[in-house]
Amino acid sequence: MMKRLLFTLSLVLLCFSSCSQKETISDFDVDQQLEYCHKQVKRTLDMIGDTTRMPRNVLPGQTAWNLVPVSIGEWTVGFWPGTLWYAYEATQSEDIRNHAVHYTELLAPLTKESPYDHDLGFQLFCSYGNGYRLTGNGSYKQILLNAADTLATLFNPKVGTILSWPREVEPNNWPHNTIMDNMINLEMLYWAAKNGGDKKLYDIATSHAATTMKYGFREDGGNYHVAVYDTITGDFLKGVTHQGYADSTLWARGQAWAIYGYTMVYRETGEQRFLDFAEKVTDLYLNHLPQNEYVPYWDFNAPNIPDEPRDASAAAIVASALLELQDYVNDPEKKETYKLAAVNMLKELSSTQYQSHEKNPSFLLHSTGHWPNKSEIDASIIYADYYYIEALLRYKALTSN
Ligand code: GLY
Repeated sequence: MMKRLLFTLSLVLLCFSSCSQKETISDFDVDQQLEYCHKQVKRTLDMIGDTTRMPRNVLPGQTAWNLVPVSIGEWTVGFWPGTLWYAYEATQSEDIRNHAVHYTELLAPLTKESPYDHDLGFQLFCSYGNGYRLTGNGSYKQILLNAADTLATLFNPKVGTILSWPREVEPNNWPHNTIMDNMINLEMLYWAAKNGGDKKLYDIATSHAATTMKYGFREDGGNYHVAVYDTITGDFLKGVTHQGYADSTLWARGQAWAIYGYTMVYRETGEQRFLDFAEKVTDLYLNHLPQNEYVPYWDFNAPNIPDEPRDASAAAIVASALLELQDYVNDPEKKETYKLAAVNMLKELSSTQYQSHEKNPSFLLHSTGHWPNKSEIDASIIYADYYYIEALLRYKALTSN
């Protein structure tokens, strides 16, 4: 009798929790948020037109984008064209498509330069990658194939990873350094291997992911940001931070790159070890979020929490990643947890606390770029917008099926 009562009670609880989760998920109006993004994109275009520079940030107290010149050393230049491609995908506006073409093609000179660092993936896959996906333009495809070959020249087979920052080798004495952000740029290598490029690019990307999984994290799944290796022996030397608070703390965007990166690597390889790892790095992140809050502080262990800046960009990256990852996990409860977390992140980012509205023409406020350098703190930053609109489109695709 007691057993039957407990069973009935657990069924009621299960139904209650899954019904209330569904309710929470279904009350997010994604079209309204996409319309907001469209409005902000139009505001930016009204302000800057077809300039030759790219929006990068709006700092606290400012009301307009700071624009940066296109250069191989400017890692963010692909995000504005990428945002325009997503806005075109959402609206089918020919006008936005024309601007997307203009800003994408400004990046063509980057493809003729010798390898500078791993950011070539961010620069070209967000811009030309989305452009090719949406237009099938053959010249864009060739640019991406060339860029993948260029990126692969930074691979050190002895270590098994790409050298992320050649420029940091000497000043920091980091002979071979591989940073967590570099995980995202493996996507261009996988894409090239599948689209007529050298099949070795697949092996390079997978070796990079596996080696980083082994050495780029602490036991608990928290990222170091930078893994340093010996170039001759290939040995792992140390794990340190560059943009986090300290070597032992959890830099929020670094963990976001890991979640997004291992989700993508699982999609591309189908290897269970990468799915398991994507879940591990995700669970650590979710378990450390402040109670009932979905936008993290810039570093989970920053010393002055709750008086520390947030990082909306990390939340946008993770929301987008979780909307993909939930599709791969087998455990129905975990699937629901990830989906609900992603929606809660999107809801929080879509609140007046985080959306910019008339304050400035970006989508989102409150990202942190580089706290140790004291740069872009509590700012609107273009990559937060890029991953936010990507996540909205992923959410829309998920809920319209
Ligand atoms: N890729 C640099 C950053 O995440 O800030």
